[in-house]
Amino acid sequence: MKKVFSGIKPSGDIHIGNYLGAIKGWVDSQDDFDNIFCIVDLHAITVQQDPKILKEKIRETAGLLLACGIDSEKSVLFVQSHISAHSELAWILNCFTPMGWMQRMTQFKEKSEGQKDKVSVGLFDYPALMSADILLYDTDIVPVGEDQTQHVELARDIAKRFNSIYGQVFNVPKAVVTKPGARIMGLQKPENKMSKGGSDTIGLLDSADDIRKKIASAVTDSDNEIKFDSNRAGIYNLLTIYELFSGLDQGEIEKKFAEKGYADFKKDLAEVVVVDLEPIREKYNDIKESGEIEKILEKGADKVRPIAEKKLKEVKNIIGLG
Ligand code: TYM
Repeated sequence: MKKVFSGIKPSGDIHIGNYLGAIKGWVDSQDDFDNIFCIVDLHAITVQQDPKILKEKIRETAGLLLACGIDSEKSVLFVQSHISAHSELAWILNCFTPMGWMQRMTQFKEKSEGQKDKVSVGLFDYPALMSADILLYDTDIVPVGEDQTQHVELARDIAKRFNSIYGQVFNVPKAVVTKPGARIMGLQKPENKMSKGGSDTIGLLDSADDIRKKIASAVTDSDNEIKFDSNRAGIYNLLTIYELFSGLDQGEIEKKFAEKGYADFKKDLAEVVVVDLEPIREKYNDIKESGEIEKILEKGADKVRPIAEKKLKEVKNIIGLG
């Protein structure tokens, strides 16, 4: 079976962008692959975090992945910092990564805009750690949203460069992006991708009322015409969300709302989202109460540790460390 690795940051609230762009695909293809899913807490600290909240968010993220349908019997779920090989390999990969490659990373450019001298070195180096995550496990497929594809490309380049010097050490992975859903945009700023927190975002744990309010106030335009037109960012994004939650195709959706205005469409959209997220929220509460999360994460770390340590040992040996 092909090997899948993907990760999610336990910072902010996990939102429907994460769900539609990544998590749903992970859940749906669990039987087809050998899966490892990682809660990347070391990536979260590239910006400052409150220690108590970070610890809670790691568990919340794990609980939510399980509530969305990640089955710990079929897929490994673990916390990045539980496996020290990730940090060690990241350092080694740093030494094989030209600055120029890193300087091209658009996510760093966006995140550091206007504050280049203040952001952490870790934020700049983020893609090297991500490469280590992926390359430690001989990953074939990395299912991600569109914003992460450049980072996966970098992991490929680093793997190829390393292999060209030392022979076939790393498997060269491939990003897989699920479309539509690969780039869910913000509700208030549909020109930017939805990101964790605020009124731009629908969190998986948002109450039904919050979801209704957020969708009702989502930015659209004055055309009041319900059509999939990618030039009209706001309504296009809402229609994409509708498409993904309802399972209807674009033609069916346009027909359904042909005689209706934005207000009616938004009401329907809110209900479709609420109906799908409600069971996730309920399941999350059950999982949290069961006290199982900690055990699942420990078991996950125990499963991946030998794989990661073996690869790290091979790498250290081949480059002459120790
Ligand atoms: P993170 O935590 O930002 O996001 C987790 C996953 O959700 C996707 N995503 C989106 N998809 C569609 N629309 C959006 N608005 C949206 N926002 C986020 C992301 O593309 C991602 O797939 N660097 C990664 C985590 C990571 C990782 C890895 C991923 C660390 N190591 C190794 C894959 C392999 C990140 O910050 O994801």
